[in-house]
Order: sequence, then structure tokens, then C-alpha cells
Amino acid sequence: MGSKRRMVIAGNWKMNMTPSEAKNFVGTLYEKVKNNRACDIVVCVPAIDLPIVAKMCAGTAVKVGGQNVHFAKSGAYTGEISADMLVDAGAKYVIIGHSERRQYFGETDETVNLRTKAAIEAGLTAIVCVGECLSEREQGITEEVVARQTKLALLDITPEQMKQVIIAYEPVWAIGTGKTATAEQADEVCKLIRNVIAAKYGKPIARATVIQYGGSMNAKNAAELLAMDNIDGGLIGGASLKPDDFAVIVEAAQ
Ligand code: 13P
Repeated sequence: MGSKRRMVIAGNWKMNMTPSEAKNFVGTLYEKVKNNRACDIVVCVPAIDLPIVAKMCAGTAVKVGGQNVHFAKSGAYTGEISADMLVDAGAKYVIIGHSERRQYFGETDETVNLRTKAAIEAGLTAIVCVGECLSEREQGITEEVVARQTKLALLDITPEQMKQVIIAYEPVWAIGTGKTATAEQADEVCKLIRNVIAAKYGKPIARATVIQYGGSMNAKNAAELLAMDNIDGGLIGGASLKPDDFAVIVEAAQ
């Protein structure tokens, strides 16, 4: 078992669960994980589910997050959601720069950085996603891509603010495909991310930063991934919609 930091197991529900479905689902979920105090448990839910899920989870071990945040305080940005809105609805975390947002919604390294700053300033913990796609891995430029994404996401983030940053390494080719990175592959890239942080902020901050793995993490492979030195938790899509599987992953993070 690695060192290490307090693990953070976060579910990313993506665009699943209406508010009424979420209400039923989260009740079942927290019953299964409520006795776990050994890691932080987060569910990142569609914005419209936040109020009900935050209400249901109040006083439990489960914390709530959003899946996107805009960088402006407020204004003419139809369809977007501000950091203050997330906070007011009960979110403590927010996912930023998920590869699906980069791929389908024009998210860039620059907007990821702006959104990260806005989230931190509002008091949220930002779960910043980085990761290479298949062609980049095949071309042997994984390290270059991930280092670049990490550096650009952290532009102008102060050492103090790093307490509110989690990096999630999600190789795009492993998301929703059933193809998990091997524990060694995942650890290697998480280590690279930690080195990028060390080069900018020094070793103590790098050692304290939570770096998650995400991409087809499930009840079967979680223990092996989470045992690696540089992997401090998971960002879980599909398996976070199955309470029993999610509970097994939470258990593996003890
Ligand atoms: P899956 O666990 O479904 O592969 O999704 C991972 C992910 O994208 C989490 O953000």
C-alpha cells in the first residue's frame, strides 16, 4: 500500500439521473457508504440535481459536487452555471475540464484554467481532469500532453490555493470503454503529474496534492489501482451509478 494522502473517491454521474431518480438513488448509496470515514466520498451530479442531493447528503459522509463551472461571476452566458450558484446549491467540489467537455463543448486549456480559478475563489475544490487520447498515447506523447495540460490548468494558481485542487488523470481511451490503464501505467502518469507540481510548487505541496485516476475504474480493479503510490483516489463514471460497486470502490480506499 502506498504512502499516502487521504483518498478521495468521486462519482461522476455525467448526464444521468433526473432529480426524482437522484433522490431515490442517493438514499441507497449513502446507506452503503455512510460508515466510511477513511476516505472522502463525493458525488458529482448534474446541476439540476444538486439541491436535492445536497439536502439528502447533509450530515452524511457523502459530499456533493458539480460537473462544470463558468469563470465569470454572473452575466450573459446562457446555459452556464457560476461557482456561487454551485456553492449556494450545496456543492463543495466541481469537476473541471473533463475530456467530454473538452471534446464536445470546446473546453480548452485556457478555459479550464479560468474555471479552476473561479471555482477556487468561490471556495470549491476543483477536480481538474487531464489525460491523453489514444492517438497521443500511440505516438508516445502522453507525458508531453499531460504535463502541458497540468501546467496550463495551474497557471496563476497560488501555492495556498493548491489545497483546493485535485488532479484527475483520465486517459481518454479508458473512459467508458472498459479498458483500464494498468495500475503501473496509471501510476506512472500520476507520478509525472506530481513531478510537474513539484517543479512548480515544491515537494511538500506535490506530496500533499490528491491525484486521482479515472477511466473504467470498477469494483474489480479499484483495489489494485488505489494501492499504487501516486494514485490517491478515483473519478468514477459508470460504476458510480451502481451503489454496490461504488461501495466496493469506497471500501478499497480505506
Ligand atoms: P467511466 O468510469 O465510465 O469509464 O468514466 C470515467 C470518467 O469519465 C469519470 O469522470
